[in-house]
Amino acid sequence: MPGDLERGRQKVVWAEDHMPVLGGVRRRFEAEQPFAGLTLSLVLHVEAKTAALALALRAGGARVHLAAGNPLSTDDDAVAALRDRGIATHAEKGESVAAYRDGVRAMLDADPDVIVDDGADLVALVHQTRTERGRIRGSTEETTTGVTRLKALERSGKLLFPAIDVNDAAMKHLFDNRYGTGQSTIDGILSATNLLIAGRVCVVAGYGWCGKGVAARLRGLGGDVIVTEIDAVRALEARLDGFRVMPMLDAAPQADLIVTVTGSRDVVRADHLRVLKDGCLLANSGHFDVEISKPDLEGLAIAHARVRPQVEEYRFADGRRAYLLGEGRLVNLAAGQGHPVEIMDLSFALQALSAEHLARHGRTLAPRVHAVPEAIDRAVAEAALAPLEVGLDRATEEQVRYAASWEGGT
Ligand SMILES: NC(=O)c1ccc[n+]([C@@H]2O[C@H](COP(=O)([O-])OP(=O)(O)OC[C@H]3O[C@@H](n4cnc5c(N)ncnc54)[C@H](O)[C@@H]3O)[C@@H](O)[C@H]2O)c1
Repeated sequence: MPGDLERGRQKVVWAEDHMPVLGGVRRRFEAEQPFAGLTLSLVLHVEAKTAALALALRAGGARVHLAAGNPLSTDDDAVAALRDRGIATHAEKGESVAAYRDGVRAMLDADPDVIVDDGADLVALVHQTRTERGRIRGSTEETTTGVTRLKALERSGKLLFPAIDVNDAAMKHLFDNRYGTGQSTIDGILSATNLLIAGRVCVVAGYGWCGKGVAARLRGLGGDVIVTEIDAVRALEARLDGFRVMPMLDAAPQADLIVTVTGSRDVVRADHLRVLKDGCLLANSGHFDVEISKPDLEGLAIAHARVRPQVEEYRFADGRRAYLLGEGRLVNLAAGQGHPVEIMDLSFALQALSAEHLARHGRTLAPRVHAVPEAIDRAVAEAALAPLEVGLDRATEEQVRYAASWEGGT
């Protein structure tokens, strides 16, 4: 459905007004024009915060093309506002997988100098269709799953250009994955269902950066939270943070809500569905819609109906029902409004500065996965503290000497 231009404009203004760090980057870009003459292709969740990034990159001289990072995460109002501002945008909420892929292909056809990717679908397409990097100076990657794919590409020896791992910058995963996914996943679940969290048994699959945030927020709302893990360290961390930890097979019969955030696949599958508690809500906040097995849901169910805009009911032969939210896609974007604006301010400031780094130095960087330069991470942290009026102590000269010496001890 076409979005509402006026609503879209208002959403973009609201986002830009609450993104002071990206705003500072944008003002410098306007003066320095680091992307003059360059084309940037972005595959990201298309909503108002992303519009603020696209406009900041364009203010730096770039021709910007933008496509959806997921068929269900688009805000059509933001699309209307982006098109009105002259940004070529390929995205429509609820588009088919074929239309989604056409959008990613259009980003490649735009012949980019720099790629900004989320989940590595555009980078994968480059490598499926080309054997040379052409004019591509490099790519930046937003999320854990995309970084996992890039590292697999690097290990295969086929990575054609440098890729900057934005996800693992401190200013990304500590805030976006934990606080952003934590809050917005709840937003998506509540918007989809209008149900109460307090008193519900909530199972969080995966206690990584995202899972920690989701588990903490569910507990904050009064949920009785169980964690499932495959990693002993993370399982211990969850236990010492006060959560019950058990295999999914034991958790599923008790669960009123299961949230998957693992980056893996089939985390909820037939074995679990066979013992699932009646009425359980199933939500995914991991990058791809494979964490809750839709083929298994469809295979076991005898009836299937959409009962609310973002809720599908699957009824099993014994009468039990499971409710899948947001078609098993990222629930915070499919059914909610995505990460809070201030969180995307940090993530997109990192993206903008990493894209600038590639524009300036990409041709001389080795074709491997690179960390975000420490100076960029620090600059974003310092800029983020300023509007919060958080002051820092500075180490004295004596403290600097002490930290650099080995002689001093007891
Ligand atoms: N919803 C969002 O907006 C959003 C934001 C950031 C990241 N993500 C995505 O969320 C996913 C998780 O990201 P992360 O940064 O937390 O990753 P992470 O690597 O920090 O954590 C993933 C955790 O899942 C665990 N795990 C893996 N397979 C499992 C299984 N079968 N059962 C239980 N636990 C399992 C791992 O041991 C790990 O502790 C990724 O797909 C990432 O791309 C989504």
